[in-house]
Amino acid sequence: MKGGFYTVLMFLALTGPAHCTSFPFMDTSAIERGRKVFMEACRVCHGLKYYRDRAHPQGITALMDEASLREGFGMVPPDLSLITSARGRGTGGALYVYRLLTGYYREDGVLKNRALKEWRGGDGVTAMPPPLPEEGLKEKARDVAVFLHHVADPKEAERRSIGRYVLGYTTLMTILLYLIYRRVWRALKKLHRALSG
Ligand code: HEC
Repeated sequence: MKGGFYTVLMFLALTGPAHCTSFPFMDTSAIERGRKVFMEACRVCHGLKYYRDRAHPQGITALMDEASLREGFGMVPPDLSLITSARGRGTGGALYVYRLLTGYYREDGVLKNRALKEWRGGDGVTAMPPPLPEEGLKEKARDVAVFLHHVADPKEAERRSIGRYVLGYTTLMTILLYLIYRRVWRALKKLHRALSG
């Protein structure tokens, strides 16, 4: 009986934090769709130098070279690896990207952007032409925002699942340790009685 109790305890202690990877917080299918949108609609002008996957072990570079970009847009568009972290906390950066992509409007014939105007101040004039077609705009904008959020913080899902797991694990260990504590004291009292009696 006692042996069994301690075996279970050892098993829990050893196997506990080993498998904590699943329970994705971000919707992985949105990340995957967003990756496609990025490749088709953003990569012409933007790189992701800190992004890593099997097909891109060195990150992703923009398809146009810097000289042509500078000539065409008057600047080199920013690398987007960390853009969601740079534009907001938590999921605020992803929301910014979504609002940027869906926030174009015309004023006196000039193309402007609401999100950029709020972020920078000024008149909202932007060097980025609307990169997504009207059709399916919201879905594509959301997916690519989710993808960029994932690029900037690829470990987020893992961290969240570990957090939840650690809480459960700690609670369980507290209960088990309390049981051991009672057992030990019962044994000590017995011993004390035997010695003094
Ligand atoms: C034709 C070239 C081009 C394409 C395609 C393009 N961009 Fe841009 N992008 C730019 C340029 C130029 C800027 C700089 C805009 C400025 O500062 O006014 C920019 C800036 C940005 C910024 C930074 C805005 C800020 O707050 O400073 C984000 C985010 C961004 N682009 C996202 C995207 C996404 C997502 C896509 C694909 C859906 C995309 N871009 C496609 C040219 C492009």
